[in-house]
Amino acid sequence: MSAMKKLYTSVLPHIHAFFGRTYLPYFPSKISIESGNLCNLRCPLCPTGQQDKSAKKGFLSFTVFKKVIDETGQNLTMIRLYNWGEPLLNKNFLRMVRYAKERGIDLKISTNLSLKIEDTTIEALLKSGLEKIYISCNGASRTTYQKYHIGGDFELVMDNMKRVVQKKREIPGCRTRLVWLFHVFKHNEHEIETAKKLAQKIGITIKVSKMRPDMGKEIFETTLKALERDREWIPDNPEYTVVSEKRQKRVGCTLPWTETVINWDGSVLPCCAVYSEKYAFGNILENSFAEIWNNEMYVAARKEILGIKNDRETICHICKRSGYLHGG
Ligand SMILES: C[S@@+](CC[C@H](N)C(=O)[O-])C[C@H]1O[C@@H](n2cnc3c(N)ncnc32)[C@H](O)[C@@H]1O
Ligand code: SF4
Ligand code: SF4
Repeated sequence: MSAMKKLYTSVLPHIHAFFGRTYLPYFPSKISIESGNLCNLRCPLCPTGQQDKSAKKGFLSFTVFKKVIDETGQNLTMIRLYNWGEPLLNKNFLRMVRYAKERGIDLKISTNLSLKIEDTTIEALLKSGLEKIYISCNGASRTTYQKYHIGGDFELVMDNMKRVVQKKREIPGCRTRLVWLFHVFKHNEHEIETAKKLAQKIGITIKVSKMRPDMGKEIFETTLKALERDREWIPDNPEYTVVSEKRQKRVGCTLPWTETVINWDGSVLPCCAVYSEKYAFGNILENSFAEIWNNEMYVAARKEILGIKNDRETICHICKRSGYLHGG
């Protein structure tokens, strides 16, 4: 993907949003495609971890993945091949990565890496051309790790991390970026420095990130409500959370102009904060992406965000009433 094309596809949506256009003559350049919404862990602030039944469970098939790429690929610069599950559990995962890479599209994943993984799989992952692998590990010791990643194995994650770093060194020209993703919660905020030192020792980049309150509920409620319920998880340092009493309201959203999400069952959603297919704007198995991207749901959502009268209720209407994601 040329730098010019990347620039063009990233600027275009903002121009259309700025001029208040709700019918869009282009496709998004970024897309999240959910490889599956099943997981081996039970993280308490993730709807999958909570075994929330408001989304059907399953894995993305290669056929659906191919349909998405064939229909949307011309403008695509980046795919996040995960959403509400553990991407490495999908048996067709590598085949999907290769298919997209052959078409010049960058891919990222986020994995808990708390699984038994063969050397050959690590090598294949690194050779597949993935642009970035985030490794979610919210702890620098077994005790803190287990408090959030319920069912996970800290020692296994550390060992896997070291193996992936080592394997990358052995593959000439491997460009996959490996990032330890450390979300800060109340129970692990004292471990940030230890985690940074550990990352340095392993030879991996660490990204210290802001935690979100209950990820399946955040678009339905105000910041204050989330703070009230999830107080036990919110770090004392407000720098490390997306919600805080002091944080100003978020006043809008441009996601329905810039990107889209397609879940394993073909549901098309406006952003990755929406969990249930109940709020889908359409399904790629029933309509083409071109039809969905400018259908009455998408147009109503864009109008609502712009403050233009419309008569179709969407998840973006609900999110706006709650003060937008992480606002209000
Ligand atoms: C739902 S997970 C799916 C991917 C994979 N299972 C994982 O955990 O990396 C998607 C992303 O959410 C992040 N995540 C999980 N709980 C979070 C929280 N409370 N706040 C912010 N991000 C969170 C994970 O680190 C991951 O990058
Ligand atoms: S955050 Fe990731 S690892 Fe944790 S339960 Fe959700 S999908 Fe699984
Ligand atoms: S308005 Fe809310 S639900 Fe709609 S795309 Fe933006 S963040 Fe997602």
